[in-house]
Amino acid sequence: MTIAVYAGTFDPFTLGHEDVLDRARQIFDTVIVAVAADTGRSTFFTFEERVQLARQVIGEKSRVRVMGFEGLLCEFIEQQHATVLIRGVRNGSDFDYETRMAAVNRALNPHAQTVFFPPISNTQAISGSLVREIHRLGGDVSAFVSPIVRQALERKRRSL
Ligand code: COA
Repeated sequence: MTIAVYAGTFDPFTLGHEDVLDRARQIFDTVIVAVAADTGRSTFFTFEERVQLARQVIGEKSRVRVMGFEGLLCEFIEQQHATVLIRGVRNGSDFDYETRMAAVNRALNPHAQTVFFPPISNTQAISGSLVREIHRLGGDVSAFVSPIVRQALERKRRSL
């Protein structure tokens, strides 16, 4: 049985993330969506909110678990007995960054392989920061995130 970890900040979980997850589910037996507590930068949604939102968006999809994690990703992967790390790669600059991250993760945990997923064309331009900026400036983010995330963005903005 192959367990794959799809790790990220997911601030918030976008349609691009959902697309990667859906394709990964077709390949691996179990996919753990691993939401990082500490990402080295401040986030719009809290850790708990990011985990909860990912759970709500993913709903009852089979063979998927959403978990939060703290500390090193390679250690979390080992604890979960996973052998694959999934990352979405949208463009050349993602690729440069991701190949470095894959090399570091491989050095720290040689038992796990990083697998890259290219985006489908209509999610290529999505990123968490673009979604947050469009929303902050009052734009419509419904082409980039699910209705659950759009409502959560609105609730969060009203509460700030
Ligand atoms: N569709 C849409 N957006 C995507 C995407 C896709 N397929 N793939 C990536 N993105 C976007 C994200 O929305 C995010 O956008 P933003 O920067 O504008 O907010 C951006 O790409 C970065 O994505 P993310 O997956 O959050 O990557 P990251 O570089 O922040 O890394 C971890 C997150 C959790 C993997 C990394 O911080 C980590 O491993 N942390 C644990 C500590 C550790 O082990 N560090 C050593 C790692 S070598």
